[in-house]
Amino acid sequence: MTFATLAGTESSEWLAVQDIEVIYDGAILAVAGVSLRVGQGDIVALLGANGAGKSTTLKAISGLVQADRAQVSRGRIVFQGQDTAGVAANLLARQGIVHVLEGRHVFAHLTVEDNLRSGGFLRKPTRRELEQDLERIYAWFPRLKTKRKTQAGLTSGGEQQMLAIGRALMTQPRLVLLDEPSMGLAPMLVEEIFAIVAQLNAEEGMSFLVAEQNINVALRHASYAYILENGRVVSEGDATELAAREDLQHFYLGGKAR
Ligand SMILES: Nc1ncnc2c1ncn2[C@@H]1O[C@H](COP(=O)(O)OP(=O)(O)O)[C@@H](O)[C@H]1O
Ligand SMILES: [Mg+2]
Repeated sequence: MTFATLAGTESSEWLAVQDIEVIYDGAILAVAGVSLRVGQGDIVALLGANGAGKSTTLKAISGLVQADRAQVSRGRIVFQGQDTAGVAANLLARQGIVHVLEGRHVFAHLTVEDNLRSGGFLRKPTRRELEQDLERIYAWFPRLKTKRKTQAGLTSGGEQQMLAIGRALMTQPRLVLLDEPSMGLAPMLVEEIFAIVAQLNAEEGMSFLVAEQNINVALRHASYAYILENGRVVSEGDATELAAREDLQHFYLGGKAR
């Protein structure tokens, strides 16, 4: 079997999640029938309320499900022509998939710069390459440069989110799985972060799959979106079309205290 037949022949099949089911602890069905696509160079949004299955879907794609005692029990995930089910997260990271977890995980006791350095080791860079990578990240996130010597735990929520993204970028990913970057941040910072995502996408061709409850900001920056409810895709479409749909606006803006 060739990779081409596995993945289908369209170039839009860069990342294809095909009808996956994910079960935690061999018993809890968290995702049941999610299919989605991300084309190379796309920004795609994965929207839904708390508990809808967004994080679980991202973990299935990055291979981190296994670390959470979960498994993809049905369906397929194909990245660049290869079936990635059961492939360990560190191997997928080498192929260009990086996952920025929900809740801006940083090493609180390390400096901002040491946090970034920790993201670079996967590639075993020379000292000089590492310095160049750091400068690249600082060019994207000037705020991080001003805080380079500060302990990460002492920086603001927005800076920690930028740091979590910056550390992920140290792996030089092709696909970034970004889990709720807006969570708990002031609107201005959310805009700043999404603007950087848009720029990374436009200038470096990096692809993003962004999980969000904040549907308005996500739909403004994504080209396509999927809406999850109870572990299933209940709606999908071009971002501009979804943004114009009143039922979604009511459901998410009316039904959620945030
Ligand atoms: N580690 C876990 N163990 C058991 N159940 C989990 C775990 N993580 C998530 N779940 C369950 O899976 C479902 C989807 O959760 P999640 O993917 O975190 O949704 P979202 O990211 O959209 O809020 C929820 O019902 C949640 O309770
Ligand atoms: Mg989540």
